[in-house]
Amino acid sequence: MGLRRSNWGEQNAVAPDQATAHDDPAVLLHGFDAFARHAISTEPQPPCTIVSMLIVEFTMLTKAQLQRAAEILVEAFAHAPSAWKTIADADAEVSTFLDDPDRLGLAAVDQDRLLGWIGGLKTTPQAWELHPLAVDPKYQRRGAGSLLISTLEESARKDGIETIWLGSDDDFGGTSLYGVDVYPDVLRHLARLAATKGHPFTFYRKHGYCVVGILPDVNGFGKPDILMAKRLRAR
Ligand SMILES: CC(C)(COP(=O)(O)OP(=O)(O)OC[C@H]1O[C@@H](n2cnc3c(N)ncnc32)[C@H](O)[C@@H]1OP(=O)(O)O)[C@@H](O)C(=O)NCCC(=O)NCCS
Repeated sequence: MGLRRSNWGEQNAVAPDQATAHDDPAVLLHGFDAFARHAISTEPQPPCTIVSMLIVEFTMLTKAQLQRAAEILVEAFAHAPSAWKTIADADAEVSTFLDDPDRLGLAAVDQDRLLGWIGGLKTTPQAWELHPLAVDPKYQRRGAGSLLISTLEESARKDGIETIWLGSDDDFGGTSLYGVDVYPDVLRHLARLAATKGHPFTFYRKHGYCVVGILPDVNGFGKPDILMAKRLRAR
């Protein structure tokens, strides 16, 4: 990923929509993957059509795109009481991905429009935490989340990382665990985990993440954090 940053961000002063197949194979691999699913069109597009999707590092984003990254955090997590509620808080989160070398931020862009973003926190030499993942509600279910997650995993693999883990809160009533006193047999409740109102743990499951634990009540009584992890290397 460091290579991607220097090759792409510093040497190539090229906007993502002007990229060609020869600019940066790593970035464009994902661009072409997206192109396959979203045909490029010169016709005027309806407001929420994705023309071409690329994954780029945060270092390539403009000030306006970084601002949009903060807004997307607030908008995408509007249903979650414990998430970012102000642009100032979201801005502070976004800034950490520019300031902290142990944080990698990747963004999905369509020409100059930011569709969503993902963060990887380099928590140990063997593991990254996925935090956060947010797609603009207007552009959800078009493949941006999936492309962001697979790109982050690829970066982690290149860094020799064994596992990616994450916490997915249920502070809004999305699962069978919400509002439940899970003590004392916490794992029995976890074994019966089901989505009741739609919860992203099902999205992560589709991408190979396993439920590995639960932090009961961390967002208040009956509002757990559901822990998931994925092994990145075949055994
Ligand atoms: C979860 C999220 C990142 C997925 O991004 P996306 O771009 O919409 O996902 P993709 O288009 O790549 O994949 C779509 C598939 O993911 C699943 N999915 C997407 N959003 C989902 C959600 N909110 N709940 C459950 N499953 C979801 C579905 O299986 C969907 O396939 P379908 O449309 O055929 O049913 C996005 O919905 C989002 O930003 N949600 C709000 C923030 C959030 O919950 N982030 C994760 C916190 S841990």
